[in-house]
Amino acid sequence: MKSFQTERWIVDKSEQSLIDHPQVIQASLWIKQDEVVALPTETVYGLAGNAGSDYAIARIFEAKGRPSDNPLIVHISDRKQLEGLVSSIPKSAEDLMNKFWPGPLTIVLPKGTKVSEKVTAGLSTVAVRMPNHPVALAVIEASGVPLAAPSANLSGKPSPTTANHVYEDLKGRIPGIVDGGSTGVGVESTVVECTDNGEITILRPGGVTFEELENVVGLGKVMVDPGIDDEKLAPRSPGVKYTHYAPNAPFVLVDGSPEFLQQLVDKERAAGRRVGILTTEERIGLYRADSVIPSGVRSNPETVAQHLYEALRSFNEANVDQIFGEVFPKTGVGAAIMNRLEKSAGGNVIKE
Ligand code: TXA
Ligand code: MG
Repeated sequence: MKSFQTERWIVDKSEQSLIDHPQVIQASLWIKQDEVVALPTETVYGLAGNAGSDYAIARIFEAKGRPSDNPLIVHISDRKQLEGLVSSIPKSAEDLMNKFWPGPLTIVLPKGTKVSEKVTAGLSTVAVRMPNHPVALAVIEASGVPLAAPSANLSGKPSPTTANHVYEDLKGRIPGIVDGGSTGVGVESTVVECTDNGEITILRPGGVTFEELENVVGLGKVMVDPGIDDEKLAPRSPGVKYTHYAPNAPFVLVDGSPEFLQQLVDKERAAGRRVGILTTEERIGLYRADSVIPSGVRSNPETVAQHLYEALRSFNEANVDQIFGEVFPKTGVGAAIMNRLEKSAGGNVIKE
């Protein structure tokens, strides 16, 4: 693998005319040379390269250690870039773009002639989104091409929500990281597929909720791919089948009361094991363990999403042998939170 002195390019996202910012230009110069750089989006940091360059795409897969049958999302800054990228746009997709772009919604569409097979892993469709982050939009614009970008973590690790997380995973593997501070949403975009009959299917829950989608396309018109949760079915989104977001220690979800969770912890500690608990701010005081880490505030699920990956990553420093985590209602952004937690736990849930 190529090796680099990974640079950090700090960009204040509130600055004017970011497209002329020296650090944004620096990042775009690497992209123009078919290299890959990490950049912030409103969801998580992405590892971006020219979507039209087979070499850049190969570098993305190499730097992340990503399985080559898992296709990438193409990021655009302007809808004009859809030309050649997709071959048609159903009405439902147009409605979704009007409502949610720029924003955390990825739309799977029939692929156009200008898309490399390497981006789509041989599928006849391509996933596209317009991120709602001024730095991401500026880098795409300065590069002058759509950018393929998966989350900028090593394959299998929690997605990065800060430049430090990216550095932990990819130092030495990429030329640089555009550091625009912490991302906002915290979980990745929702991936949907649109069909001509006006229905849409959620392939991966994310920052845009089921309820928000239903408000746009109509009651009863939003399906959820059953392959997301049922291991016996092949998911329509290839990435969904892989292990994801895993902390180093075994992680189990606990569907029950704090007292029940504490009993599980006590049993492990009595056996001499170091135990971590993933909880929320409201409940920190209820637990005794070697490491009690909150992810946001339970009464405000958006904050749970925002801090989730950071919390999962911090158990690695805490050096625990076992982690127990609380569960959340699956409504609103809770669907995405629980999807990531279930993946992270490899489907292990203990019910009271
Ligand atoms: O928020 C996000 O979406 C972040 C930021 C960086 O934009 N990106 C991201 O990319 O999460 P990644 O590669 O980690 O996840 C992309 C997901 C995978 O599950 C992949 O299988 C799916 O999108 N996907 C990509 N192209 C697809 C296609 N043509 N059909 C179905 N699923 C697709
Ligand atoms: Mg990812």
